[in-house]
Amino acid sequence: MKNKRNMYPVGCNSIGLVLSFVWLRQLWLIALTRIKTLIPEDWTLVGRAYPGEEVQLTFALRQQNVDQMKVLLDRISDPDSVLYGKYLNLADVTQLVQPSRLTQKVVKSWLLSHGVQDCQTTITQDFLQCVMTVQVAETLLPGSRFNRYFREEQFLLRSDFQYTVHKDVSEHLDFVGGLHRFPPKKKEVAKSWLKRAAGGFHLGVTPAVIRARYNLTASDVGTAANNSQAVAQFLEQFYHPADLAEFMSMFGRSFPHLSAVDRVVGTQGKGKAGLEASLDVEYIMSAGANISTWVFTNPGRHESQEPFLQWLVLLSNMTSVPWVHTISYGDDEDTLSTAYMQRVSNEFMKAGLRGISMLFASGDSGAGCKHLGGGKNSFRPNFPASSPYVTTVGGTSFKNPFKLSYEIVDYISGGGFSNVFDMPDYQVSAVNSYLKNTKGLPPQSYFNVSGRAYPDIAALSDNYWIVSNRVPIPWVSGTSASTPVVGGMVSLLNDQRLLRGLPPLGFLNPLLYKMQGKGLFDVTEGCHKGCWDEQVSGQGFCATAAWDPVTGWGTPNYPALLALLVV
Ligand SMILES: *[C@@H]1O[C@H](CO)[C@@H](O)[C@H](O)[C@H]1NC(C)=O
Ligand SMILES: *[C@@H]1O[C@H](CO)[C@@H](O)[C@H](O)[C@H]1NC(C)=O
Ligand SMILES: *[C@@H]1O[C@H](CO)[C@@H](O)[C@H](O)[C@H]1NC(C)=O
Ligand SMILES: *[C@@H]1O[C@H](CO)[C@@H](O)[C@H](O)[C@H]1NC(C)=O
Ligand SMILES: *[C@@H]1O[C@H](CO)[C@@H](O)[C@H](O)[C@H]1NC(C)=O
Repeated sequence: MKNKRNMYPVGCNSIGLVLSFVWLRQLWLIALTRIKTLIPEDWTLVGRAYPGEEVQLTFALRQQNVDQMKVLLDRISDPDSVLYGKYLNLADVTQLVQPSRLTQKVVKSWLLSHGVQDCQTTITQDFLQCVMTVQVAETLLPGSRFNRYFREEQFLLRSDFQYTVHKDVSEHLDFVGGLHRFPPKKKEVAKSWLKRAAGGFHLGVTPAVIRARYNLTASDVGTAANNSQAVAQFLEQFYHPADLAEFMSMFGRSFPHLSAVDRVVGTQGKGKAGLEASLDVEYIMSAGANISTWVFTNPGRHESQEPFLQWLVLLSNMTSVPWVHTISYGDDEDTLSTAYMQRVSNEFMKAGLRGISMLFASGDSGAGCKHLGGGKNSFRPNFPASSPYVTTVGGTSFKNPFKLSYEIVDYISGGGFSNVFDMPDYQVSAVNSYLKNTKGLPPQSYFNVSGRAYPDIAALSDNYWIVSNRVPIPWVSGTSASTPVVGGMVSLLNDQRLLRGLPPLGFLNPLLYKMQGKGLFDVTEGCHKGCWDEQVSGQGFCATAAWDPVTGWGTPNYPALLALLVV
């Protein structure tokens, strides 16, 4: 990071002499402490934003009772607690976490004193989204400087310097969104196209293969009237209803299913459908067959918003949302602020209290690698995969890719240990026993033994067939494939529970770790990738019996899970 002196925006200098002297002093102080932020290399700087242009910023107001929320979530998701499954509705969650009156008053009057009036809040009152001009935003948040950036067909306003907030306000705010984070890189889900194309003909993973491997029969489909599931997508991609229909007519003959999404929340992009967007929808609806499915896609009213944050804001503003959400999205932990990650994790706690299961892809870079300089490296954890309050899904391949053989590690499967979040109680014994009993662990300088370890569970992630832009495409791979498959199966379990008057499974991890791998196929063969250096030679962690940071507890065996979880 570089400190850099900078011109302050024009338009502020027609003040009297004395005032401008004070102004200059302030300016000087700001200039000295301004911190440049990292701009992702796939975005090109076009130029300075015009002072009159509009931006939408999201203010995350400090919540109350976060410790209580954590204790309550531990109980509500612990199968041995009397509170298990006694979920809260959004009004109850609001009662618990809504910011204090003081917080709301201070933040609102701070905004008003800068003339910021066009604001909207959520039911939970812990977010404020406000539209203002660039000029106002830069005064409100000293240090910030908005520029226009461009990637492919998209323009965006972001600040290349970190913002500050007035000290009277800072204790009432977790963070301000809409300044720094860029939409994720275009992901290459189809990477194994290259990997396998040379290897000759391959049948590939279809819904029938998924359903056979995980022991789903034609009658294992949703029947409960009120069940639903969702995928959330934040890439500049969308799924095409015609692709989904064609996919189901090609691959869905052997089981009852729906061929259309019930609800799209947000705006579908224009142009071509994306591989990843098609993959998520096609496979959650094949595993969680005949279950009402929603798609959250780039929701929001302003183009400069951060889609992921927008989705969280939306969840806090909708009283009724699906029970299961699968999300293939992540950033390197070290590129995000701790305040941001903590707060986003609180949002997952809020979802858990409502009985919502959040499943995140563990990432496609194995243990990852961060170059620390001086020839030193460490692994590189991914967020939200590393949040203790989501269920993180890793990836596997078939041992024999031409048969329904047993599963081994898919070397891309994301996994490791957080540098931000402490290891949660529910996994301490499983992870410690892995660390204690595994020979040939990577050197301790590569990972943090006290951090939240992931993934929690896994499924096939290699060589999927999808339909995109009306064309069947083989060899699509990644944990964005395994995540909707696990999500669909969680929805099937919820379905059977709802039919029997049992609560849905909600936040899964405390239950999953108490089951100690029961109901799952343990994956014990293979390692995922890590740093390409002399110390670890391209390798991260390896799978073992029981839990491991490559495939978690293993992959689902549906009838066995049903017997355990629906009684
Ligand atoms: C939350 O929902 C209400 C009612 O639909 C709406 O008026 C408000 O704008 C929403 N809040 C945000 C931040 O979008
Ligand atoms: C499920 O599948 C596995 C392997 O595919 C098989 O061994 C097992 O007998 C099947 N049935 C049950 C109920 O687990
Ligand atoms: C599909 O689900 C609906 C309820 O949403 C149910 O009425 C119907 O029987 C289900 N279809 C099958 C084949 O089970
Ligand atoms: C579906 O949910 C609504 C609202 O939660 C409830 O009133 C209704 O009885 C439920 N229907 C069924 C069939 O469970
Ligand atoms: C290791 O993780 C803990 C959280 O569990 C964190 O406080 C600590 O800073 C991390 N260490 C490093 C070197 O990142």
